[in-house]
Amino acid sequence: MFQSIRSRLVGTYFLLALLTVGLVETLFLVGVRQYYLANIREILEQQAKLAGSFYEQYVGQEQIERSASALLEGFAGITAARMQVITPEGTVLADSLGDLSPLFMPDDHWRRAVAGEVAAWQGKLEKEPVLVVSAPLKTNGAVVGVVRYMTSLEPLEEMIRGLLFRLLLAGTAIVLLAALAGLLLANTIARPVEVITRAAARIAGGDLNVRIPKRYNDEVGRLADTLNHMASELGRLDRLKNEFVSSISHELRTPLTSIKGWVVTLLQGPPSPGEWRQGLRIIDQETDRLTEMVEELLDFSRLQAGSITLRRKETELAGLLENVVSQMLPRARRLGLKLTLEPVAGLTVFADPDRLKQVLINLLDNSFKFTPAGGKVEVRTTAGKGQVTIAVADEGCGIPPDELPLVGTRFFQGRAAKSGSGIGLALCREIVQLHGGHLKIESSPGVGTTVYVSLPLAKPHITG
Ligand SMILES: Nc1ncnc2c1ncn2[C@@H]1O[C@H](COP(=O)(O)OP(=O)(O)OP(=O)(O)O)[C@@H](O)[C@H]1O
Ligand SMILES: [Mg+2]
Repeated sequence: MFQSIRSRLVGTYFLLALLTVGLVETLFLVGVRQYYLANIREILEQQAKLAGSFYEQYVGQEQIERSASALLEGFAGITAARMQVITPEGTVLADSLGDLSPLFMPDDHWRRAVAGEVAAWQGKLEKEPVLVVSAPLKTNGAVVGVVRYMTSLEPLEEMIRGLLFRLLLAGTAIVLLAALAGLLLANTIARPVEVITRAAARIAGGDLNVRIPKRYNDEVGRLADTLNHMASELGRLDRLKNEFVSSISHELRTPLTSIKGWVVTLLQGPPSPGEWRQGLRIIDQETDRLTEMVEELLDFSRLQAGSITLRRKETELAGLLENVVSQMLPRARRLGLKLTLEPVAGLTVFADPDRLKQVLINLLDNSFKFTPAGGKVEVRTTAGKGQVTIAVADEGCGIPPDELPLVGTRFFQGRAAKSGSGIGLALCREIVQLHGGHLKIESSPGVGTTVYVSLPLAKPHITG
């Protein structure tokens, strides 16, 4: 039944206002009625007592029949209430309305008056609400009659009814106003949410250019901000993905073209033995390059999907670094680069050695690609509090400042010549982060680039 925010809020406001107004008005009416009743009763009781004590002090007759009319004349005019003088047996001797017929009265009330008490009774006589107060008339301490005052409560009830009617009108207005306030409030929530829902549906449908207008700077406004951010992020990733796919296709086409070219040449034959050798060597190289690219791509998507688990063990860092550097040394020589290693002995990390090697090879690969012949590439380690930092520094072309923040995010390739598929650094960063470490790049164009890989140490480093 309460399916929308609007109906829930309006319903709650309505019920709350209804309960509050109902409770307050009921308490008020009951209070007013009791106050007036107590007042009336007080007046009648005083009246009856006054008549009683007057009789005892100034009349004092044993025969009540003789003084009944005089008593009535003396006291009936004081109030608007009907006054009666009655014998203890119940015979009405005098009545301010002149009606001497006996009136029904509950026994208890009557008995108490005859026993000498001032008694009050409230009830209905002939369908009319009345209040009756009876007081004994005494002579020398003996009850010789009863004086009785009786008033209709109809005017009081009338007034209460009038009051009730006005309170109901005011209460209804208050409840309606509260419901209206709830509706207005609900609209400030529900409307923007509806707008956001429609926009989110369009985003889900693939329209990533949708932006949600923001009306208030509240929770709903922040939701709009978040969704807008999400949409722009999705759009950015979408563009990057497209660029990546087209550049990857381009990358894959280069080796494929040369393989195809050589295959055609060899097929057209007859090739010389020299041509055979050259052709097959190039086909071999290009196939390796293709395999490597595909391997990297697969690795990257597995890392992204979180389906790669590290095979970590305590690994001695110096040995691993020497291993990598000696593996890369021949290529450095071929390129005319000076590759040096400056390891610190006795450092142990809890890492997957194969993955760590992959990171270092990738970093060295970049340095080799972007450093001209004659340049220097350096691998250094520094140990700090509980962590070790491996730096790969080169004297290459550097990265322009505008590209620096984007380098290492997925699929980003720089403008520099020899830029590849743009996943090398992203892959490195993922692997380092899986190890609980982080990767930082510093670079100044024309001077060189240094990539820092920080990893937590497995054991505290003992120096000296
Ligand atoms: N040492 C470096 N010197 C200068 N520029 C660099 C260096 N390392 C990375 N870059 C820049 O950062 C970009 C991203 O590097 P990344 O290793 O992620 O991709 P890539 O080397 O282009 O391709 P891949 O490594 O996937 O073959 C490079 O294209 C290049 O522009
Ligand atoms: Mg690279």
